[in-house]
Amino acid sequence: MTYKVLNNITLKNVNNGVISNIATDLLVIPVNKKLTTSIEFKELDKKTGGYISKSAKDSLSPGNQSHLLTSLDGVKAKKILLFKDIDQKNDIYLWLNRYKSIAKTANSIGCKNISIMDGLNYPKGKDKYWFLEMIARSMESGAYIFSTTKNKTAKSEKVGKDIVSNQASLKSVSLITTKLSTAEVKRAKTSISIGFSVGEGVNTAKHLGDLPANHATPKLIEKIVKTTIKNYPSLKVKALNEKDLAKLKMGSYLSVSKGSDEPPRMIIIEYKGGKKGEKPIALVGKGITFDTGGISIKPSSGMDEMKWDMCGAGTVFGVMCSLASIKADVNVVGIMACAENMPSAKATKPGDVVTSMSGQTIEVLNTDAEGRLVLADALTYVGRYKPSYVIDMATLTGAVVIALGSHASGVMANNQFLADKIIESGEATGDRAWQLPLWNEYKSCTRTNFADLANIGGGREAGTIHAAAFLSKFTEDYKWAHMDIAASAWSSSPKGGTGRPVPLICDLILNKKLK
Ligand code: BES
Ligand code: MN
Ligand code: ZN
Repeated sequence: MTYKVLNNITLKNVNNGVISNIATDLLVIPVNKKLTTSIEFKELDKKTGGYISKSAKDSLSPGNQSHLLTSLDGVKAKKILLFKDIDQKNDIYLWLNRYKSIAKTANSIGCKNISIMDGLNYPKGKDKYWFLEMIARSMESGAYIFSTTKNKTAKSEKVGKDIVSNQASLKSVSLITTKLSTAEVKRAKTSISIGFSVGEGVNTAKHLGDLPANHATPKLIEKIVKTTIKNYPSLKVKALNEKDLAKLKMGSYLSVSKGSDEPPRMIIIEYKGGKKGEKPIALVGKGITFDTGGISIKPSSGMDEMKWDMCGAGTVFGVMCSLASIKADVNVVGIMACAENMPSAKATKPGDVVTSMSGQTIEVLNTDAEGRLVLADALTYVGRYKPSYVIDMATLTGAVVIALGSHASGVMANNQFLADKIIESGEATGDRAWQLPLWNEYKSCTRTNFADLANIGGGREAGTIHAAAFLSKFTEDYKWAHMDIAASAWSSSPKGGTGRPVPLICDLILNKKLK
C-alpha cells in the first residue's frame, strides 16, 4: 500500500465560461475581485439568481472568513464553500493553512469529491503553477486522518460541537482553471502531479510518526518500508540488523538499542533516477522509535510524544517515496537509523565509553542524548556513498523547541551554500528553516578526560548547537547540513505528525538547487 489519501487530483480547464454544470459534492470559491468579475463566476451566480454574490456580500467579513451554501438551485454542485481570498501580500503559511482547512472541511461534511476554482490571485512572487502545486499538496496532506489503530467500524464521532471523522471521506479533487493553452494545461498538470506526490510523501512521514511505538518498532518499520516499497519499483531497500551493525563496528549506534528488547535496524533506501555515476545526495534520519531517555530516564509527563522521535527517519522515507512517484532524475540514498532507547539491566550507563565506527571513542554522559549516538555511526557509514551533499534530519534537542518554536526547523551546516539552499527551499514551500551558527568555539564542549568525545557538553547553553557540534566530528569528509526538527515534525496540540520537512527537502532535490 501507499499512504496516499486521495485517489486523484485532476485539472479541469474551462474554456466556455460555464461552471454551473460541474457536478461535484462541494464547489470551493475563493472570493476576490478578480474572480467575482470573471465571466465564469458571473455565469454561476446568474444561474442561482444572484444567490452566491449576495451570500458572499452578506456573510463574509474579517471575522467570518468562510461560508457554506447548502441548498442550491440552478447549479450541479451540491454545496458551495465561499471563502474570503487571501491577500497577495500575505505570508505563504496562511495560504497553506487555508487550503489544508478546506480539505478538513470537506472531510467533516462527508464530501467524496470537491472542485476548487483557481482564484487567479497568488502570493507575491509566485505564479499559477506554484499555486496549483501548493493546492494539490495541501489537499492531499490536509485530507489525512490517522485511523490505523482505531476501531474500523467507527466512521465518525462527536467531540464537543465537532464531528471528528475516523476516516477521510474525501477521495478526489478537481482544480478548475480557465482559458489555459494546451501547453499551459500540460504544465499545470505536471505541477498538480508533483504537489500530489509531495503530499503523499508528507502523509507517509505523518503516518510513520503517528503510529504508536508498539506498532512501529525498528523491525516493524523495516516491514512497513519493505511492503510499501513494492509500489515503487525504482526504490531498492536493504536493512542492516544488529549483527551487521556490529560487523561495521557501530559501537555508538548499538549503545542506544542495548537496553531494549527490540533489536535495531538501519534501513538503506537507494533511488537512482539520475545519470549513472552521478554522486548521490544523502539523507540520514534519526529513527528512535521510542525515547524513554534510557538510564537517564525522562520525566513521565508527555513521554508519549517520544513515539515521534523517529520523524527524521519518517521524513527520509516520505521523501524517497515522493521522488520515486515523481520519477525524479536524481540519485539519492536515504538512511533510516532506527533503534529504541530503553532502560534495563543491559542498558548503557552514564559514563560508559563506546567506540564509534569512525574509531573515535565516546563517553556516554547522558543516555538521553541518544540521537547523536545513532547518527554518528549512520553519518560515518553514508560516507561510503561518496555523497555530493549530506543532510541529516533529527528530532534531536528540546532546546530547539525553545530557540525557534515550531515555525522553523533549525539548520546548522559545515557548508554555507547548502544551508542557504535549505533555507531557500523552506521559503519556497512554506516549510521554513532557520540557521544557527556552528562555529569552532562551540566544538570544544565535547571534551572529556575519559574518551575522545563526550555525548553532551555546554550545560544549559545552546543545546541545539552543541548537539550539532558533536555530529560535526563525524561529517568532516563531505558537505553536510543538520536539521533539528524536534519542534517542527509534530504538533502537541492537536497531537499529530506534520510530515515536515518533506516539502522542503523535495523542493531542494527536485528543483536542482544543489547543482
Ligand atoms: N528526542 C529528544 C529531543 C526532544 C525533546 C524532542 C523534547 C522533542 C521534545 C532527544 O533525544 C533528547 O532527549 N535530547 C536531550 C539532550 C540532552 C540530554 C543533552 C534534550 O534535549 O533534553
Ligand atoms: Mn533522548
Ligand atoms: Zn531522542
